[in-house]
Amino acid sequence: MTEYRRLRVALLGAGAVGSQVASLLLEHADELADRAGATLELAGIAVRDIDAPRDVDLPRELFTTDPETLIVGSDIVIELIGGIEPARTHILQAITSGADVVTANKALLATHGAEIFDTADQVGASVYYEAAVAGAIPIIRPLRDSLAGDRVHRIMGIVNGTTNYILDRMDAEGAEFDDVLAEAQALGYAEADPTADVEGYDAAQKAAILASLAFHTAVPLEAVHREGILGIDKAMMDAARHAGYVIKLLAVCERLAGETDASATGEAISVRVYPALVPRTHPLASVHGANNAVFVQAEAAGDLMFYGAGAGGIQTASAVLGDVVSAARRHIAGGVGVGESTRANLPVVAIGRVTTRYQITLEVEDLPGVLATIAGILSDGRVSIATVEQNILTGSDDLAPGAAPGTGVARLVIGTHTAREQDLSETVDRLAASDVVARVVSVLRVEGD
Ligand code: NDP
Ligand code: HSE
Repeated sequence: MTEYRRLRVALLGAGAVGSQVASLLLEHADELADRAGATLELAGIAVRDIDAPRDVDLPRELFTTDPETLIVGSDIVIELIGGIEPARTHILQAITSGADVVTANKALLATHGAEIFDTADQVGASVYYEAAVAGAIPIIRPLRDSLAGDRVHRIMGIVNGTTNYILDRMDAEGAEFDDVLAEAQALGYAEADPTADVEGYDAAQKAAILASLAFHTAVPLEAVHREGILGIDKAMMDAARHAGYVIKLLAVCERLAGETDASATGEAISVRVYPALVPRTHPLASVHGANNAVFVQAEAAGDLMFYGAGAGGIQTASAVLGDVVSAARRHIAGGVGVGESTRANLPVVAIGRVTTRYQITLEVEDLPGVLATIAGILSDGRVSIATVEQNILTGSDDLAPGAAPGTGVARLVIGTHTAREQDLSETVDRLAASDVVARVVSVLRVEGD
């Protein structure tokens, strides 16, 4: 057996992901040593409660409630606690004490990434975070390394497994939102506080990370436009299906031309998370369950799709261990770590300047001239109509003889050509205020056609 240099690995957290990482590190120790060129010695596992039940059996003597002491003298620190504190403090301690860090913590990287990467740069350490976006799917390395010579134009990602699980079950089975959320929680996909999933915070954190890598620009979380899926109901799902779409929570990261005088190219970027209509023929429409997918459009490479398990303990552990092997190889090879590339420094535009297509669903009075009034409001707002479908809910013709005219109700589904978000939202406000519109049922963006 080859004798390798020993590297001391500290694991912080033994929950859904951490317990699987520990188990695989111990079980595959010899294979990992051959691949890393170093023996990865699991020095200890820091948790809150040593007696808490674990998903897998792990040697009790490895557990500690003293992360600070465990970190001292470690070569690689794996942070799988989650959240901001104490994860931030432990990571900074690890970096300044000479360790490389592996983390899956998107919440921390999206909010304190600059501080962590700057600190790592100062001491020549590396921070690896493949598991922070889309669980098991390799997407950080492809964006950071494989596509570093290309120009990424657009990313559309399903990057939250919980919401994809919920929307998929609602679409396929007509399931109710609350029932499916409880199942996603029981399956271990949801964050400790599931509002992070359903209100789009988790996807926004991942979008900020993806956009930073794709556009070589530090994207602050506050610059990401975020909407969740709480407003999506069965009627919207049915209407989407009827029109040939499926509703997905998307993270869209886009390079925009001619947006700014601040750079020679006039380029800016948009980073946004919202539920959108995706044509059923688009590859993202066939992403089911808790799976994730990231669809990347690059200048030279063309369209690329990265697909797989976006959540789950053992699946995410795969990405974490890949990072551990990379960290070990770098540690053995020596030299300084490769920092983040953020020098493009492109401005992030507000949502109002984004252009996309929309589907507006209205309930209107079934009266002569109503369609013309609505078309006029859209035209005045510089929103061009691409399609209109009308369904009579209560037809004037069906009313009892002698009933007052105007009590019939029609549902109008208007598909627009590409429009600017600012124009669209002002137009929707005018529609809502119009006498002929009983109710704006929904406004959804259309992406991917
Ligand atoms: P869990 O909540 O399952 O586990 C958290 C672990 O951290 C527990 O073992 C807990 O200890 C420990 N812990 C919490 N606070 C402290 C503390 N103050 N000191 C020491 N240990 C502490 O989290 P997950 O495993 O689900 O997630 C870990 C990370 O991976 C997060 O950043 C998450 O966003 C990310 N991630 C998770 C995925 C998933 O599918 N679960 C997928 C992709 C990324 P104890 O057990 O004693 O309570
Ligand atoms: N809660 C997250 C999700 C876990 O549902 O995708 C993976 O980051």
